[in-house]
Amino acid sequence: MGFDAIDVIITKRERGALSTAQIDWVIDAYTRGAVADEQMSSLLMAILLNGMDRREIADWTQAMIRSGERMDWSVLDRPTADKHSTGGVGDKITLPLAPLVAACGAYIPQLSGRGLGHTGGTLDKLESIPGWRASLSNAEMLDVIRAAGAVVCAAGSGLAPADKKLYALRDVTGTVESIPLIASSIMSKKIAEGTGSLVLDVKAGSGAFMKNVDDARELARTMVELGTDAGVRTVALLTAMDRPLGYAVGNALEVEEAVEVLAGGGPSDVVELTVRLAREMLEAAGVRGAKDPEEALKDGSAMDAWRRMISAQGGDPDAALPKSGEFVEITAPASGVLTKLDALAVGVAAWRLGAGRARKEDPVSAGAGVMLHAKPGDVVTEGKPLMTLHADETARFERALEALEGAYTIGADGEADLLPLVIGRITA
Ligand code: URA
Repeated sequence: MGFDAIDVIITKRERGALSTAQIDWVIDAYTRGAVADEQMSSLLMAILLNGMDRREIADWTQAMIRSGERMDWSVLDRPTADKHSTGGVGDKITLPLAPLVAACGAYIPQLSGRGLGHTGGTLDKLESIPGWRASLSNAEMLDVIRAAGAVVCAAGSGLAPADKKLYALRDVTGTVESIPLIASSIMSKKIAEGTGSLVLDVKAGSGAFMKNVDDARELARTMVELGTDAGVRTVALLTAMDRPLGYAVGNALEVEEAVEVLAGGGPSDVVELTVRLAREMLEAAGVRGAKDPEEALKDGSAMDAWRRMISAQGGDPDAALPKSGEFVEITAPASGVLTKLDALAVGVAAWRLGAGRARKEDPVSAGAGVMLHAKPGDVVTEGKPLMTLHADETARFERALEALEGAYTIGADGEADLLPLVIGRITA
């Protein structure tokens, strides 16, 4: 059935609910170019202002899934599981998590993205490994899963093309920050990816999409409902992004830290979140008799899966990682307790140092970023290093240092006021 784009816009402008048929039509017509960008922009703004109910969000998501292919992993003889993070500063969790969960008995078919703005992208991090390839055909994905138990690669152009077009439009029309639009955008890609189960890591805090816990909870609830309604066993953890995760922020720096975790070491917050998410994934996938993730980190089986996964995508797990040649050290201006280290400021600094991109076609520096030497709650000493900035060119430092002005506080005997690492858990 055909509709008039103006009628669809007016329905939402007047706070009505869009019918299933209206949603199917408008998504399909926009993807084909029969609805103009200015009409879709107007509809998106009406949705941002007036919202959508659960049925509308589910219909919107399904229409975006139907705009492209839906992958199918039923040929595999183990349950499939995936994790999606809404993005944060120093969030390298996918790197140790995917091989870890594979080593414990599930298959991981993960389609991932590149970074934009102050949050890094998993593909950018993995691309700092010499030879590693992000683009795989579906047949190659299957080969990597069979060889390593886990694959992390770029989504092809056939997956939810309506979302690609809509996301680009939202980006330039001030309509990104709508929970129904964010939830349907993320979940259309994850459902189309064909995973049987999904664990969402929804971050809250200055370095996250959702700055406060209530909004993050609402986003998590909406995504869990969408996954569940589509037959994907979905659970969400709400986690802290008021400070960076781990010590490393930047592509190769984060790979190095992820490898430390796989070797049985690494920062305690990264290890804790990796193990917690791994247990959630194994439970959601329904893996019977799964090895415990802590054991798989200790006995080397997660590291073996990582090495197989990197090699199967052309990477050399033993190659030296790229390093930036220029450094600036920031030292503690006083002795005391580090009571605040703002995630957003550190993310923006790493971005300005070259680790991130402003436009999606920009290149990123593999070696650039921020290496922290202390985290909130740590005792620091005046004149001792607080963090080291890494860049390929010295011209990058000035604006990165500007981003860090006021980003940290040191109290004489204060306690850091932090969100708990895992704030909550949301199930259907
Ligand atoms: N990530 C997505 O994939 N879509 C959004 O709308 C926001 C973040």
